[in-house]
Amino acid sequence: MILCRTIAELKNELYKIKHSNDQATIGLVPTMGFLHEGHASLMRQSAAENTASVLSIFVNPMQFGPNEDFDRYPRDEERDLAIAQANGIDLVFMPEVKEMYPAKPRTSVIVSQLTERLCGASRPGHFDGVGLVVSKLFHLVQPDRAYFGMKDAQQLAVIQQMTDDLNFPVEIRPCPIVREPDGLALSSRNVYLSAEQRQQAVVLSQSLASAKEWVAEQGMTPEELLSRVKAKISEAGQAEIDYVEWLAYPSLELPAWNEPIAEHRGKYILALAVKFGATRLIDNSLFVTNEEVYNHV
Ligand code: PAF
Repeated sequence: MILCRTIAELKNELYKIKHSNDQATIGLVPTMGFLHEGHASLMRQSAAENTASVLSIFVNPMQFGPNEDFDRYPRDEERDLAIAQANGIDLVFMPEVKEMYPAKPRTSVIVSQLTERLCGASRPGHFDGVGLVVSKLFHLVQPDRAYFGMKDAQQLAVIQQMTDDLNFPVEIRPCPIVREPDGLALSSRNVYLSAEQRQQAVVLSQSLASAKEWVAEQGMTPEELLSRVKAKISEAGQAEIDYVEWLAYPSLELPAWNEPIAEHRGKYILALAVKFGATRLIDNSLFVTNEEVYNHV
């Protein structure tokens, strides 16, 4: 496995891969490091589908708000490199901030509409920073495929839209959410939780599991569903709800609010963001109509 810290090194190594085999395909797994099994599953999928896999590890300051956790975002270079090596990565790109942004960028990548709700509303400017860095990574690596986890379902929708709008020649590969045995979705931010918050955080996946049953109830409306989910989350004493939303996916448009869910057609997302102390966790479930019944997918 090769480690590149500069763009020049990255380009040089990619040139060698592409010119040693003109059929070579490149997979890109963009991350902010502090890798966990969720990231490892993306790396393994990339390794299985491509000639060579590139892992980027870059805590991107452009996607953090002024009062967010950029400075304290967890980092562990040595452990990350070991995980990358064990999961089929050929090349790790780990630049410093000044390598990616030698000067303040004057270009914005703004995906409209899809960024208006959910994390886009709670974290103004977040997706502009994601769009900018992912565009730069796509230009630098020129991957055939790029791998993103479904836990960040809005990010995935935004990146797919950006890829389509800007004609990036990249296939976006969504990968399933990976969970702890008790259901908590893996996240680098889980390390911030106290023991008690960690216990309580399981309420996110539990409320999604309950929602799978509630959705099937006759006459269930988005309004009633969301109020039940909120009530369930609030049973955890330290949980502070940021949002609970039921939206069409991937358009992220609002459904008819008080019409029975069974009358809606297509794919929907139930998306949650909940704070435990200073730690904000997200989770979601996708639902799709099958004839007249909503099935969880
Ligand atoms: O999902 C993440 O870790 C980040 O948002 C990404 C896609 C690596 C961009 O910095």
